[in-house]
Order: sequence, then C-alpha cells, then structure tokens
Amino acid sequence: MDPRISIDEAVDVGGGLRALTHQRYDCALVDYRLPDGDGLTLLGKLEATGASHTPIVVLTALNDEATAVHALQNGAQDYLVKGRFDGPMLLRSIRYAIERKRAAVLQLRMVHLERMVALGTLSAGVAHEINNPLAYILGNLTCLGDRLPDLAESAARDPGAAGRVAAELRELSEMVRDARTGAQKVRDIVRDMRAFARRDDHDLRTPVCVDSVLEQAISMAWNEVRHRALLVRSFEPTPPVLANETRLGQVFLNVLINAAQAIPEGAATQHRIVVATHVSEGQVEVRIEDSGVGIPPQDLQRVFHPFYTTKPVGSGTGLGLFICDGIVRSMGGSIAIDSTPGKGTRVHIRLPVHEPRTGEPRPLPAAAVARRKRARILVVDDDALVLLSIRRLLDEEHDLVTTTSAHEAVRRVREGEKFDLIVADLMMPEMTGMALHQEMAALSPRLAQQMLFITGGAFTPLAQQFLQTVSNERLEKPFDAQELRDLVNRLA
Ligand SMILES: Nc1ncnc2c1ncn2[C@@H]1O[C@H](COP(=O)(O)OP(=O)(O)OP(=O)(O)O)[C@@H](O)[C@H]1O
Ligand SMILES: [Mg+2]
Repeated sequence: MDPRISIDEAVDVGGGLRALTHQRYDCALVDYRLPDGDGLTLLGKLEATGASHTPIVVLTALNDEATAVHALQNGAQDYLVKGRFDGPMLLRSIRYAIERKRAAVLQLRMVHLERMVALGTLSAGVAHEINNPLAYILGNLTCLGDRLPDLAESAARDPGAAGRVAAELRELSEMVRDARTGAQKVRDIVRDMRAFARRDDHDLRTPVCVDSVLEQAISMAWNEVRHRALLVRSFEPTPPVLANETRLGQVFLNVLINAAQAIPEGAATQHRIVVATHVSEGQVEVRIEDSGVGIPPQDLQRVFHPFYTTKPVGSGTGLGLFICDGIVRSMGGSIAIDSTPGKGTRVHIRLPVHEPRTGEPRPLPAAAVARRKRARILVVDDDALVLLSIRRLLDEEHDLVTTTSAHEAVRRVREGEKFDLIVADLMMPEMTGMALHQEMAALSPRLAQQMLFITGGAFTPLAQQFLQTVSNERLEKPFDAQELRDLVNRLA
C-alpha cells in the first residue's frame, strides 16, 4: 500500500453515509452490494444530504456492467469490476474519479454563475426601465400634492378666481395623465417579467382581428421604420384569433422593430418591410419580412435565447424574441424565422383561428347597458388601498361593501346580507379567496359562482390548481379601470 494513502472502512450504507458526511475524503470506493442496501442508495442519500462532494468509484460484480453504468448516471465517477483490477489500475481509477469530479463541480459552478449573471443583467435592465417612469410618476404626484391644497384654498378664499383655478386645474390634469402613462409603463414591464415565470397565465383573451393589432404596432414602430424602408401591407381577410390584444401587439411591435433595425438608415427607398397576413390550415399566419442584414445560419436558434443580442450596449436587451416566443406559445401558436444573410429575414407568426364556443357570453346591447341596475357588490382584499381604488372605480354605478377580512365577508353573508357579486383577492394572509369560495359554496352556491377573483400573478401551486378547477372569472392586478368595470357589469 502506498504510504501517502490512508484508508477508513465502513461495512454498510449507514456506516458509509456517516463517514462521508462527517469527514472529507479524496475518494470513496463503494461496493455495489451492501448488507443494508446498495451503492445507488448511498449515492442518493449523499445527494439528498448535500454531501455529494466526494468522488466515488463503484465496485461491481462480474457481468454487472449495466449496474455500473447506472451508478455512473447517478453520480459515481468510475467503476471497477471486482477481481478484474490490480493496484495500478485502482490508482488510475481513483485519480480519474477525482479529476472527473473536479470538472463536474466546476461545470456546475459555471452554470450557476451564468444564471446569476443573466439574473443580474435582467434585474439591472428591469430596474433601469422601471426607474424612468417611476421618476415622472413621483415627480408629477409630488407636484400635484403640493399644488392642489393651495388651489383649493385660493378657490375658497376668492370665488372670483374661477378662471385662474380652471386653467391651473387643466394643467394639473395633464400631470395626472402623465403619471398614469408612467404607471401603465411599469405595469407592462412587470407583465413582461412575468412572461418568464409563467407562460400560460390567465390573461384576459378576447377574439381579436390581427389586422388592427398590426396597424397599431405599425404606427408605434413608425419612427424606426420610416427612415429605413418602405412599408408594404399585404393583408388578406382573416378570421379572429383568441388573444390578449396588448401582448399580441407587443409581439408584432418587437418583430417590426427588429426588422427596421436590421436595415441601415438613409436608403429608405431601396428597402422594404412587408407585413402580410394569410390563412392556412386553421391558422392565421402573419409574415413580417425585411430586406436587412439577415441572420447567419448558426445564430438562427440563438435569437430566441434570452439576452442574445447583437445590438450595441444600452439599445437592446435581447429579451424581445424570447418574450415573443413565450407569448405566442401561450396563445397556442408558434413563431419561426428564416433568413438569408445579406438579403433579409422573414418572421412567421402562426396563431390558431378562434372557433367561437356556442353559448359564449355576448356583449350587452347598448340599450341594456343604459338600463343596467345598480348591483350590490362585496369586495374583499387585504390591501386597504386596493379596496379604496376599487371603490372609487365602481362607486358611481354600484353599491359597494368593502372589507379587508374574508372572515367578515363570510359573517355578513351568514347573517343574511344579500349581494349580487363578490370581488375577492385570491391570496390573502388570514383566509384566502379559495377558502372564501369554499365557505360561500356552502352558504350560497349561487354567490360562490358569482365570485370574481383578483390575482396578483404569483400563485402557489395550490392556487393554480384551484383556478383550473373553478370557472369563475378572474382579473389580474394591476387591472385597467375599464377592464374591471366591464367584467363587473357583465357579471352583476
Ligand atoms: N429581422 C432581423 N434581422 C436581423 N437580425 C435579427 C432580426 N430579428 C432579430 N435579429 C437578431 O436577433 C437578436 C435578438 O433579437 P431580440 O428581439 O430578442 O432582442 P434585441 O432586438 O436585440 O433586443 P430587444 O428586443 O430587447 O430590444 C437581435 O439582436 C438580432 O441580432
Ligand atoms: Mg428586439
């Protein structure tokens, strides 16, 4: 025996596990068949206790190559067949196992590092994107907060100042508008971020006509397009697709901007961006084609990877196509790219045609809307400010009862109060919207069906499962005022 080597022994899985978790060894030789289990059990338990840093050589019986391979797949670094090795071979195997383990650990660290770098870039990008709108939201709100009390005071003191007050109010309402634009921007960014975590979310989807969404995207991208290319439309009549209009618009916008940015500025009459629609095999196909620089074949798949960008620092995040792919997939569609370097690129976005279900709720005719009765609505959310804003949005049309406690909601219904609709947050600390639904199902099955869930987007697996089993409507925070009003009016 080599004097530089010292050996400890264990006779079963339990002993081996104790030794390997309490001491550091350069290598472990593990017999496959042990009195209280086998080598695989030991490997599994080491993995589970987080003590899998020791290189392992498994010793197997003759003709048991399959087990050996299995052990390698489960974390062993090498194997030796009993009775078929000598000293030098054993030493070689131990050295090999140690090297192999080192490489594996290094690789794991690299993957982790890459993930951290990606996450860091992502957070930095998000923080930057959100800070801009936040700056003008806060700026405008501060200004409003400073000037409104003065204004109220001078109006009260001097009724003759109406003209000046009116002028100033107009200016203040512009600040409100700007702050709202900023808040919408933050909301959109957060929505994009959620596309990472969850690809099949419960976005409000409606039948939409791709032409009009394309037109919106074109007008938003116009500044990028007009200096670079002529835009050619080739729209065929297409049936509607089931989609979230905002998200679909975002897909078209990113693809259009990519097309524009692939074309150098200044020779607009020599370049073309074609936007075409077409129906084939139950799918609406949108093609956006440019005569730009193209994409080398080896990069065609990478363009969908997060953070892959060839644009200068600060101009592209490389998230565009990654997010587009997620959005289109969540709508049951697909996105594909073909490209010829030097000639141009074609992006095909395919979306399934919407087949309307019979019995789908139809929008109320205008007359019915006008005659709509006031509904009595119970709103439950643990955040008092959310309650206040819902009250402000619905107060004019309906009678609201709000509470931050689902227990109180149950009490009110149990004591016989009548409601036409319950609007409830899904995730609340004391009693969740799910538990509330369950209580309601027992107290008033009709009311349980008349529950509208408001969700913050972060679901526990339980909540996700729950949402799949009930047919109640749901609305994602932060919601549009109009979205909330429409949904409430439809249900109440
Ligand atoms: N039409 C196109 N022509 C040439 N290259 C393209 C085209 N579309 C995408 N690419 C390549 O794919 C890369 C990734 O596109 P993606 O939209 O994901 O991110 P980005 O445009 O770089 O950044 P972001 O969309 O976040 O602003 C681009 O940087 C570009 O190299
Ligand atoms: Mg892009």
